Amino acid sequence: MSSAKVVLLPGDGVGPEVTESGRRILEVVATSFDLTLQMESHPMGGCAIDAVGDPLPPETLEACQTADAILLGAVGGPQWSDPSLPVRPEQGILKLRSELGLFANLRPVPHFPALVEQAPLRPELLDGSDLLFVRELTGGIYFGAREEASEGDNASVAWDTMNYSASEVERVARVAFEAARGRRGKVTSVDKANVLASMRLWRQVVTRVAEDYPDVELEHLLVDACTMHLLTRPSSFDVIVAGNMFGDILSDEASVLAGSLGLLPSASLGDGTLGLYEPIHGSAPDIAGQGIANPLGTILSTAMLLRHSLGQEEAAATIEAAVNSTLDDGLRTRDLGGAPEAAVSTVAMTDAVLQRLGGPAEPKLSGAT
Ligand code: NAD
Ligand code: IPM
Ligand code: MN
Repeated sequence: MSSAKVVLLPGDGVGPEVTESGRRILEVVATSFDLTLQMESHPMGGCAIDAVGDPLPPETLEACQTADAILLGAVGGPQWSDPSLPVRPEQGILKLRSELGLFANLRPVPHFPALVEQAPLRPELLDGSDLLFVRELTGGIYFGAREEASEGDNASVAWDTMNYSASEVERVARVAFEAARGRRGKVTSVDKANVLASMRLWRQVVTRVAEDYPDVELEHLLVDACTMHLLTRPSSFDVIVAGNMFGDILSDEASVLAGSLGLLPSASLGDGTLGLYEPIHGSAPDIAGQGIANPLGTILSTAMLLRHSLGQEEAAATIEAAVNSTLDDGLRTRDLGGAPEAAVSTVAMTDAVLQRLGGPAEPKLSGAT
């Protein structure tokens, strides 16, 4: 494909800051790889609630449905987080995933040798750690029946339900096994089969699917133990397949192995080539508006977009190499550790990646690092 429509959903908090970085990367890569990318932005999340009272306005959903790929920043923030509010930004993201049928969320956790020095884990533990989460994204407890606490402060009960059908588990398990075939040939399936009925089905189905992949090793772990094994033997993992909620939690934990939450990209995929690409972090309200957010999770998400939705493997690999080289050369946003006074801004980090892609840097503003 040499021409594609990419919908940008900057969202809230640091979302617009990192999405702009992603947009600039795509613009430069499009020129060097002779792609025509038609990029258009649409409101989603808290900003859309403020504008029209709906976190996923129909026009935004329609633009996404007719896109080749979507790049999302992040949504949410304290101003929309009061539990008694009827509409929340996060509902927009969940509806988008569900409406587009994006059931498989790939969350790679790469090893960045340049960042090992600052990591909270000992270097020898991190050596060889390179994982891929395959998170189920349109089922489980996120989408089960629930009852809200309707009487506000006096409410005495509220509940959520977790359910999985065999076909929901099977399709995401197949994504994990296929991915493992192209990697180190191991799948770890995470569940809570010792307590939950839905998780016993999960384990049964994954075990059955594994029979079709005799070349792939299968390990089952209970989620509580998995949180510990991720820190004590990270390099023993290859692909980790998990339900919606466990995959959400474990992937944030695993970001510590890579170096920072701000580094991790994701791809949400369904049956076709349309995909939703986003860093795994949130809107980071504590640093929003300061120009210091790490843009690399979003930049690496543009690489996944080019690879999975546009079939541009070479362009994707070029972006990943540019990110590695930027880190190897010592550039660090504040979240990546090191001396705070040496930290670079979102724009400066993006410029550094762009320079390695052969693209133009933005003129330096006075005072900007
Ligand atoms: P968060 O991921 O926004 O932030 C957690 C911590 O990581 C914060 O200290 C933050 O400063 C830091 N951080 C996150 N991204 C960073 C980046 N790019 N560079 C540097 N530091 C970064 O999680 P939270 O604070 O629990 O959630 C804030 C809001 O974001 C909530 O409303 C939540 O629902 C929402 N959220 C949205 C998404 C999404 O849009 N996909 C994902 C997660 C959370
Ligand atoms: C993520 C986020 C979302 C999730 C929220 C914002 C709905 O934490 O993408 O990881 O829980 O899936
Ligand atoms: Mn999350």
